[in-house]
Amino acid sequence: MRIAVLVSGSGSNLQAIIDAAAADPTFPAEIALVLSDRPGVRGLERAEAAGIPTQVVAWSDHADRLAFTEAVCDAVEASDAEGLVLAGFMRILSAEAVHRFPNRILNIHPSLLPAFAGGHAIPDALAYGAKLSGVTIHFVDEQVDHGPIIAQQAVPVADDDTEATLHARIQAVEHELYPRAVADFAAGRLVVDGRHVRIQEPL
Ligand code: GRF
Repeated sequence: MRIAVLVSGSGSNLQAIIDAAAADPTFPAEIALVLSDRPGVRGLERAEAAGIPTQVVAWSDHADRLAFTEAVCDAVEASDAEGLVLAGFMRILSAEAVHRFPNRILNIHPSLLPAFAGGHAIPDALAYGAKLSGVTIHFVDEQVDHGPIIAQQAVPVADDDTEATLHARIQAVEHELYPRAVADFAAGRLVVDGRHVRIQEPL
């Protein structure tokens, strides 16, 4: 399956997917496009270094969220990608994207949802005094950080953690979990039934 990976920043999860695909000739996803909402980010450099086409769809070039979302979806369709993988993409797409790509948009979130939804999951977990946080990979639905859960893994919070140390521990898990989830998705192994996603092993 051809996929588009959407980034806004460092793109370390994008790199993990690039590396997983490079290491496994049977990896079922091919990255057709890396799209960013802003120019000059490391994620775009990583794509260029891997020879993957890139495109910037700048938030500031669009009148509103719907116009931005339509431009993103148009770019994905033009690349012949059938799935979208959000990897640190810092814009909320309007429901139009879910209508155009139902159960075809994956997101990764640095907490065990539904705990600590939103854009500050790591500082929020620290401020709350949580002993356990983690990683969630889910399909995107019409609500933010809400869709059916594909995979989760817990990550312990240490007493002396800072945002940087907790984020590093979480990212190490993300880099294992996301390529596996992308492979399951691209191979058609994910079966969605309401909120429930099960992984169907090949016969
Ligand atoms: C990840 O920690 C992810 O959970 C969150 O944004 C971060 C992106 O990191 N949504 P990177 O750009 O993949 O390095």
